[in-house]
Amino acid sequence: MKIYISGIAGFLGSHLAKRLLSLGHEVSGNDSMIQGDLNNLPKNIKFHKTDCCNFEEMTKNLKGFDIVFHCAATAHEGLSVFSPNFITKNIYQASVSLISASIINKVKRFVFCSSMARYGNQKAPFHEDMSPKPEDPYGIAKVAVEETLKLLCEVHSMEYNIAVPHNIVGPNQKYDDPFRNVMSIFINRNLQKKPSIIYGDGNQKRCFSYIDDVIYCLEKLALDKNINKEIINIGPDEETITINELAKLVANETGYNDKPIYVPGRPKEVREASCSSNKARNLLGYKTKTSLKDSVKFTADYIRRMGVKRFIYDLPVEIKSEITPKTWTKKTI
Ligand SMILES: NC(=O)c1ccc[n+]([C@@H]2O[C@H](COP(=O)([O-])OP(=O)(O)OC[C@H]3O[C@@H](n4cnc5c(N)ncnc54)[C@H](O)[C@@H]3O)[C@@H](O)[C@H]2O)c1
Repeated sequence: MKIYISGIAGFLGSHLAKRLLSLGHEVSGNDSMIQGDLNNLPKNIKFHKTDCCNFEEMTKNLKGFDIVFHCAATAHEGLSVFSPNFITKNIYQASVSLISASIINKVKRFVFCSSMARYGNQKAPFHEDMSPKPEDPYGIAKVAVEETLKLLCEVHSMEYNIAVPHNIVGPNQKYDDPFRNVMSIFINRNLQKKPSIIYGDGNQKRCFSYIDDVIYCLEKLALDKNINKEIINIGPDEETITINELAKLVANETGYNDKPIYVPGRPKEVREASCSSNKARNLLGYKTKTSLKDSVKFTADYIRRMGVKRFIYDLPVEIKSEITPKTWTKKTI
């Protein structure tokens, strides 16, 4: 199969590319490089430095491809209430451009990476037949893409699947981004002998997945002929933990035990976010193989191997007011 991956220099896109290449598929992809890292790319891959919003270029790039896997996004949920223009452009406009370019090129199947932000603050664990109730521009834009994708696929007869990954961690994930990826931020700071920074009381609950446990599920959404028009949560539902507990796990792994710093909570941050994995277990054979403790260890091993980094504030904070986190406006992470 000829498979095209958007956001291929990012975390999920690069792992997916490696996996699909190892299965013998022809893989190519694009990234705007607003966040990606070229070192993540498998060797000798055809790569386009293209923004998905560039409809004409994307229409050219997709010529001859059977499957499009859309991983490109600015996956910054917390930032999205302060940079809604920037975030939604890279979610909604970028996706509609890519969906349209796929239809023009007669792509057979389109796989979209949505987000558990689609469920908002509903009672966890979230399951796929809950109505979406997003709480922030990031989640709203993801749901808008889902709806547009379904409609355009129906009209133009393209197959689709929607993945709902949640808090995936592991090598290739950006750990110098002050706006997201809480586990990586804690590890990067602790390894620099700096305490974890926690928004609010730290009793927010989350569930983390290790990349190796989810990559074959994403692969099936692209390749399994019997799975079409499905929306599936991708990740575990066994080990839910609070952010306070996560900080302790990271401290144990890094050996840095100073108390975390608590800063005011961020508006619209969901209290408890975890997904049911039943559908993934039934349809994709999902199984959690990596414990949370090992996920922290393997992610820390990667950051040690690559070297700790200073945090880079290269994304726009569009709305600066008294409720914008000072960690971002004053660059204190
Ligand atoms: N990793 C997770 O835990 C997680 C959880 C839920 C949802 N997701 C979704 O999965 C997808 C992949 O996430 P990820 O963790 O790999 O993120 P990532 O930031 O590592 O990768 C996304 C890539 O997309 C690129 N990009 C952003 N806007 C673009 C544009 N307009 N055109 C082209 N490239 C663009 C970035 O440069 C980046 O390399 C995203 O859609 C994200 O919303 C990820």
